[in-house]
Amino acid sequence: MIFWLAIAPVYGQYYSETVMPPPRPGKLTRLHFFFHDILSGTNPGAVPIARPNTTNAGLYLNLIAMDDPLTVGPEQTLRRVGNAQGLYVWTAKDPTLFGAVLYTDFSFTSGRFNGSSFRFFSQFPITEIARAKEQVIEMAIVGGRGAFRMARGYALTRATYVNLMNGDASLEFNVTLYHY
Ligand SMILES: *[C@@H]1O[C@H](CO)[C@@H](O)[C@H](O)[C@H]1NC(C)=O
Ligand SMILES: *[C@@H]1O[C@H](CO)[C@@H](O)[C@H](O)[C@H]1NC(C)=O
Ligand SMILES: *[C@@H]1O[C@H](CO)[C@@H](O)[C@H](O)[C@H]1NC(C)=O
Repeated sequence: MIFWLAIAPVYGQYYSETVMPPPRPGKLTRLHFFFHDILSGTNPGAVPIARPNTTNAGLYLNLIAMDDPLTVGPEQTLRRVGNAQGLYVWTAKDPTLFGAVLYTDFSFTSGRFNGSSFRFFSQFPITEIARAKEQVIEMAIVGGRGAFRMARGYALTRATYVNLMNGDASLEFNVTLYHY
């Protein structure tokens, strides 16, 4: 009976009292890893799943789904520490600018952050990355799970390998995360 009285209000309304939130995330973690987006071969990590029904659109509005490895070193064969799972869509109308928007969860499968993830929702200027090897670009991180709950942050990334013929690329990431 006491239990029933305690939970009864839950059925009557769909919201809680509004209170002051806890302090903002106070931890800062930096991550360094490599991401390999491989479209070629018989076991690609990234696969085009939809494109517009026009003949002249090129890559524009192609949608790519991926489950790509994250490793500690620049070689794909080096120790895998996580996965990048999600989508990117080629959104640059100018065919000389291969820009995309990335909607992707980067999750870790080993080490201290095993089971935790953060996510990108960011522009991903692929031409800029491919054009100059030393070019560093910035991407936005909008959330996280596990140790990275409520994460906000950014990534600085540059290409360590690009093959413009088949689209394969490896990128180095330096990620800065503010989280609980
Ligand atoms: C693509 O568009 C053309 C013309 O609008 C149409 O005839 C054709 O059936 C469409 N193809 C697909 C796969 O939807
Ligand atoms: C990561 O966590 C999963 C689930 O808890 C566990 O099964 C796995 O062994 C862990 N991996 C490493 C490398 O610690
Ligand atoms: C990432 O950080 C390392 C160590 O500070 C640095 O050597 C490297 O150039 C950085 N890479 C990027 C893409 O910012």
